[in-house]
Amino acid sequence: MFSFLIPKKNIVESGVLKGMTDVHCHLLPGIDDGVANLEEARRALDLMESLGVRRVFLTPHVMEDLADNCPAFLEERFAWFCSQVTTPIKFHLAAEYMLDNGFPKQCKEGLLTLGDNRVLVETSYFSAPYDLKTILYNLQSEGYQPVLAHAERYMYMDWNDYDYLREHGIIFQMNIMSLSGTYGPLPCEKARKMLEKDYYEHVGSDYHQYRVYEHALRHLNLTKKQLEKVKLLLDNNDRL
Ligand SMILES: [Fe+2]
Repeated sequence: MFSFLIPKKNIVESGVLKGMTDVHCHLLPGIDDGVANLEEARRALDLMESLGVRRVFLTPHVMEDLADNCPAFLEERFAWFCSQVTTPIKFHLAAEYMLDNGFPKQCKEGLLTLGDNRVLVETSYFSAPYDLKTILYNLQSEGYQPVLAHAERYMYMDWNDYDYLREHGIIFQMNIMSLSGTYGPLPCEKARKMLEKDYYEHVGSDYHQYRVYEHALRHLNLTKKQLEKVKLLLDNNDRL
């Protein structure tokens, strides 16, 4: 059947986002490439609240190039942030770890997790760290469950790579904005296929900028089947 003939509904109007938990956001001001200041964060929260977001995991980038972002510093910034915003949205602190040369040091210091033991990790979009499989295996050996952030965005990964990771216990998080083409046609196509094939466990916004987020969601129209699958991922988010 031609896909354009299948009825679609806007994701905001569908109601699936009501009560949602977002597992991936860059809302802690001034510490990565996400929101720059409190004013921007408050504006983001107003929008999220209007969409029905109920809980947010703040997941600042942790990477070699952002050397200050150790757990103690992030916890301090998180406490300050929570004291500065007034919103019914509940916050949790986690992080998005780049699997770079600094990651072993982060592991030794202890990782900020989604729930009990899930660790949001990412790599470069263009090439894998040479020892990716070993890094992930070591992480699992330490008792952590790796969650590959925005799995659809890695240009170097093909279906064999995704299948290998899944078979070795890695779970995937989808950026909701990938479905609307925010990152280009290839991540959009991959995200739609991976959603269809039930490759994902979690969904997040990866919020960085108000305009991008608002535009993507307002223009994201999905089929009933796609909305049902997104809802299942949001249910998984709720269990964290
Ligand atoms: Fe992110």
